[in-house]
Amino acid sequence: MSIFKRKQKGHIGIDFGAGGIKIIQLQPGDGRGNLFTYGFSERTPEEMGVDYIENPEATAALLKTICSKARTTTTSAVAALPIPTVFSAVLSIAPVPKKELAKAVEWEAKKLIPLPLEEVTLDFKELRFPDEETTAKKTFGEKQISVLLTAAPKSVIDKYVAIAKAAGLTLTSLETEAFALIRAMVGVDPAPVIIVDMGAVRSNILFVDRGIPMLIRSVEIGGKKCTEAIASALSIDMNRAEAMKRDLGIAPLPGSAPGQMPTLLKDVLTPLLNEMKYSFNVYRTRSVIARPPEKIILSGGGAGLPGLSELITSEFNIKSFLGNPWERVNFQDDLIPLLYTFGSRFAVAIGLALRNA
Ligand SMILES: Nc1ncnc2c1ncn2[C@@H]1O[C@H](COP(=O)(O)OP(=O)(O)OP(=O)(O)O)[C@@H](O)[C@H]1O
Ligand SMILES: [Mg+2]
Repeated sequence: MSIFKRKQKGHIGIDFGAGGIKIIQLQPGDGRGNLFTYGFSERTPEEMGVDYIENPEATAALLKTICSKARTTTTSAVAALPIPTVFSAVLSIAPVPKKELAKAVEWEAKKLIPLPLEEVTLDFKELRFPDEETTAKKTFGEKQISVLLTAAPKSVIDKYVAIAKAAGLTLTSLETEAFALIRAMVGVDPAPVIIVDMGAVRSNILFVDRGIPMLIRSVEIGGKKCTEAIASALSIDMNRAEAMKRDLGIAPLPGSAPGQMPTLLKDVLTPLLNEMKYSFNVYRTRSVIARPPEKIILSGGGAGLPGLSELITSEFNIKSFLGNPWERVNFQDDLIPLLYTFGSRFAVAIGLALRNA
């Protein structure tokens, strides 16, 4: 659907989510985007595990249809690389003159990245934190240079570029989901936070400080597994199980102790909670410059599970809540009831489109 009548430009953010493709066209507007149009596709549970880049023609055709139904008016697009396809780490490098930094980063990257450097696109950014000197000095004895390194296989990048091209779009940039999520869910807030993005098949856990993804982890737990657990435990079909999941979530069953999760979803969610606990330990021991997280922001369709934020708050003793990426977008008030039903499913697409807002 088209929100504004006038022909407006801007950029399209594309999220190739396992549960379906989401697109948003925003036109620039003071750092907040003005919503021009949006569209999405939905996959059946059987289709959810299929990688889009394995079927480039079908994916391009689907993307083209979504854009055409949404009546997008620009060919300029930004897409996201799924977190598991990207290597990302904060490195501490011994001080070198500025012009030698790229070489020093490459040297470190060679040791860390499991692919030959010719096969990846490397990107790095020097990080400057106000209190870095004191904390880094404590750990290393001397001033170190902190660098955020990201690397993505060229073969994967090429496939996304080709899909967009076949759909009639030009990818002006391709970034990781992490940056899109931060833009949509954190914005310019410098506070240390955790984003837990639960999609259809994966949950991404991001430790963010001053807008920088300091630690990123990804686990194969998402909404699909929750629905499957309900369907198989109650011997009902996936559609009924999906509806039940959205209604009841992890609300305690009648007669159970307060705060106790129904066993059926507990089995699905416990590995996610364990991964979060593990990530906390990694974050505490590895990061020399990051501060303790102050809040946990939930994102993605799967995070709409009733009771999830309460569960996470009580497990980690940190305030946890469902974030709302629509707060960073301008649109007419009468669209609120409609757009808010999507919850934070559009977080990645919004974050991508906001890149150029
Ligand atoms: N209200 C809700 N309560 C619980 N789960 C929900 C709700 N709404 C949507 N979901 C679940 O959200 C999931 C889809 O979320 P989303 O669109 O964020 O995933 P995706 O980005 O496509 O997948 P992935 O991130 O794994 O690639 C589905 O599993 C769906 O069951
Ligand atoms: Mg997702």
